[in-house]
Amino acid sequence: MKTETLEYILFIWITLALIVHITMFYVTAPFGRHTSDKWGLTLNNKVGWFIMELPSLLMMSYFLVFGTYSMDSYVWILFALWIFHYTNRTIIYPLRIKPTDKKMPVSIALSAIIFNIVNAGINGYFLAELAAPNNYNLEWLSSPHFTIGLLIFIAGMLINLKSDTLLIGLRKKGEKNYQIPKGFLFDYISSPNLFGEIIEWTGFAIMAWNLPALSFAIWTFANLVPRALNHHNWYKEKFPDYPKNRKAVFPFLF
Ligand SMILES: NC(=O)c1ccc[n+]([C@@H]2O[C@H](COP(=O)([O-])OP(=O)(O)OC[C@H]3O[C@@H](n4cnc5c(N)ncnc54)[C@H](OP(=O)(O)O)[C@@H]3O)[C@@H](O)[C@H]2O)c1
Repeated sequence: MKTETLEYILFIWITLALIVHITMFYVTAPFGRHTSDKWGLTLNNKVGWFIMELPSLLMMSYFLVFGTYSMDSYVWILFALWIFHYTNRTIIYPLRIKPTDKKMPVSIALSAIIFNIVNAGINGYFLAELAAPNNYNLEWLSSPHFTIGLLIFIAGMLINLKSDTLLIGLRKKGEKNYQIPKGFLFDYISSPNLFGEIIEWTGFAIMAWNLPALSFAIWTFANLVPRALNHHNWYKEKFPDYPKNRKAVFPFLF
């Protein structure tokens, strides 16, 4: 595939992200606390997370190992960061979340599988076949956008991991209830885990400095801002004493 063809696909892909972004303000994705049995067949929550995220992990690992140029430059750093994130999201995160009787609609899992195949396909193919070895040389390693992007990526990942850990820790074994989370960034926003994820992929896009990585950052923002708003409104409805000054996802802003 030529770069121009990929750019054309990316134009459609980013347009789709904007459509999904607007739609998600009207339709709540029915998993986790918003789960619903009105979306047809369902499957176990933990299994759902595993099969949803697995394509991203497998495809990027494939491109790293079998890609034409993956090992010819420092592009492996981008693959390594991606694979590190998705090893957590695919294997460790589902093992850590507390088992509940909540189910996930198969339709949600399928749409996430399609998203992950396209997203990892575009990013992996670009990095392994089109960009390297020209883009990711020593000059890239010493560029400001590499260092700044890497620091932002790490900060986002740490915020995401710490927030997920605090949320998972709110329930004791066997408990299924929800509580108002407190401490860390929860004093400012309802969903620091989603905030961290947005920061993380923004940092990745700055590091990688290419259109496919930018498309992933846009998709993450498009998905997670409405989801954070849904979480925020859900907290306000469920807990009359929910802190009034807490924002949904961006401290002091939104
Ligand atoms: N890159 C992307 O586009 C994307 C998309 C979606 C999610 N994600 C990531 O996937 C992770 C999960 O997302 P999510 O929206 O499902 O997160 P979430 O609703 O915040 O839930 C995270 C975990 O904590 C539990 N939990 C949440 N709030 C709680 C509370 N107040 N009291 C007790 N337990 C609570 C949830 O249990 P329940 O399941 O029982 O609610 C779940 O096990 C996040 O790290 C997010 O960044 C990424």
